Amino acid sequence: MTLLVRDLAQAVSPAGTGAPLRGPELREVELVEDAYVLCRDGRIAGVGPMRALPRLDGEVRELDGRGLCALPGLVDCHTHACFAGDRVEEFDLRSGGASYEELHTAGGGILSTVRATRAAGAEALVEVTARHRDRMRAHGTTTWEGKSGYGLDRETELAQLRAVRAAGGVPTWLGAHAVPPEWEDADAYLDFALAEVLPDAAGLAEAADVFLEEGTVDAAQAGRYLEACRDAGLALRLHADQFTEAGGVPLAVELGARSVDHLEATGEAGVRTLAASDVTAVLLPVAALVLGRPMPPGRALVDAGAAVALATDFNPGSAFCESLPLVCSLACTQLRLSPAEALAAVTVNAAHVLGRADSVGRLAPGYAADIVLLEAPDWRYLAYHVGGADVAAVIEAGEIAWRR
Ligand code: NIG
Ligand code: FE
Repeated sequence: MTLLVRDLAQAVSPAGTGAPLRGPELREVELVEDAYVLCRDGRIAGVGPMRALPRLDGEVRELDGRGLCALPGLVDCHTHACFAGDRVEEFDLRSGGASYEELHTAGGGILSTVRATRAAGAEALVEVTARHRDRMRAHGTTTWEGKSGYGLDRETELAQLRAVRAAGGVPTWLGAHAVPPEWEDADAYLDFALAEVLPDAAGLAEAADVFLEEGTVDAAQAGRYLEACRDAGLALRLHADQFTEAGGVPLAVELGARSVDHLEATGEAGVRTLAASDVTAVLLPVAALVLGRPMPPGRALVDAGAAVALATDFNPGSAFCESLPLVCSLACTQLRLSPAEALAAVTVNAAHVLGRADSVGRLAPGYAADIVLLEAPDWRYLAYHVGGADVAAVIEAGEIAWRR
């Protein structure tokens, strides 16, 4: 099956072939004006100017790209897309001054979503995750990660991982997201999770994740959990430095983690440590915005040479937002990244975090034919048009998956 997207205003891709991109590489884009993109058998077969379009034999489906820009399908490398219920009541309370930490301590927050997710049942989780996937797709996301962490019991954690897989996401076992009420402390809960859940979670998930924060698990507990997960064959990720610097950055480096995510509280030493490492810094500016926290040090990380990715953190509490274009707007206005840096951070570098940089994240021959078509004269509208919802169509594996 051949699909030709023709007469595009622009086609754009992060330059080069390597991953992750760092420093000045993050600013290099390959831009073609008056462009075509050719997809064959689910992969990109060619990108170039219309005047160089080769003669095409056989059956070709054409898509009119006038007034549109083509970008690589966006990659959301950090979501909690499998959850039941909502937290709209807490949103209302927080708008009146209640803090996220207070609500958590009072048994709300993450634990209220744990109650709803446990009660939902496996079938409903499959259905709700697919619904969330459809919303993400309508914002241009074609590859996404989804974490467990709202079950915190054997059955629901595994059901979450299966639901993410069933919806086409990349599953991460967030077995250490919070300590559920039936366990007296973090160590007792972790003993259970590692003995009873990890053996099956390791067969379903690609990575493991932990929320390292005062009141959840400390650095020693996080290290114990992550080492066991690594020994079971999982890649490692950490939620760290969201509210306090509690040792997550050095731990991530020591364990060779794929990423450390959040980093709102990371100081200069942490920035330097990350820049000198192979750990990707995943920045989640929607969570900082919604919780009224300081933004993570995006500019400093990029300038120091760190590998930086951006993600939504889509979840019902701190970031009820599926939109990577909005994340790019925040990156450019709050983190002081350029549109090109933001693009690389939601494509190539995010794909690297998911171990998929060879196959997704670039608009170049050989990569998956996952494409976002923006209704805009310039691809930078991705970040420039704040909340603009300019995504006109989304192509996945060479097929139109969504159209406005
Ligand atoms: O990445 N910080 C911990 N976990 C999520 C929030 C989950 C929730 O509030 O339900 C986060 O922000
Ligand atoms: Fe998160």
